[in-house]
Amino acid sequence: MTMKAFEIFDSIDELDSESKYLAHKAKEAASHAYAPYSKFLVGAAVLLEDGKVITGTNQENAAYPSGMCAERVVMYAIASQYSDQKIVKLAVVAKRKNAKELFPATSCGACRQVMLEFEVRQQSPIQVVMQDQNHKWVVASSAESLLPFGFTKVNLEHTHDPSYQ
Ligand code: THU
Repeated sequence: MTMKAFEIFDSIDELDSESKYLAHKAKEAASHAYAPYSKFLVGAAVLLEDGKVITGTNQENAAYPSGMCAERVVMYAIASQYSDQKIVKLAVVAKRKNAKELFPATSCGACRQVMLEFEVRQQSPIQVVMQDQNHKWVVASSAESLLPFGFTKVNLEHTHDPSYQ
């Protein structure tokens, strides 16, 4: 049986309990985002294989490009502190300051690229939960499904070099 690339749900209540819990943790985390410039508070929550949940938030900077998305903040923290653990699932949500309702946030291309690197590194898929522009919930079965034809270590292998003998 092949797994669907992603599934779409109208409401958070339709998500499986694990995804719902992660989205909830991501929302809690978003309150601690440092986003004084965009005022777009993002939280990411990751479920590790041992059941631990680790969170991250976006970190902005007066020198704008020095900032970092919540997804990469949490993934790099995990690679540093829980390097023996695989990432099972990542949920990302956003909100405006003082707003109760969530704001749609789908991971940027750079974060998808980093998710793909983790997926290749750990040799197992990472599910991604996020809210699309229509406020629908997306559960992607892998980073690869969010980044088809992605660039990975395979592309760097010298056997792909046409001049390789
Ligand atoms: N941002 C994230 O942290 N994750 C996303 O999925 C989308 C964008 C952050 C980057 C920046 O701090 C702010 O949201 C506005 O782009």
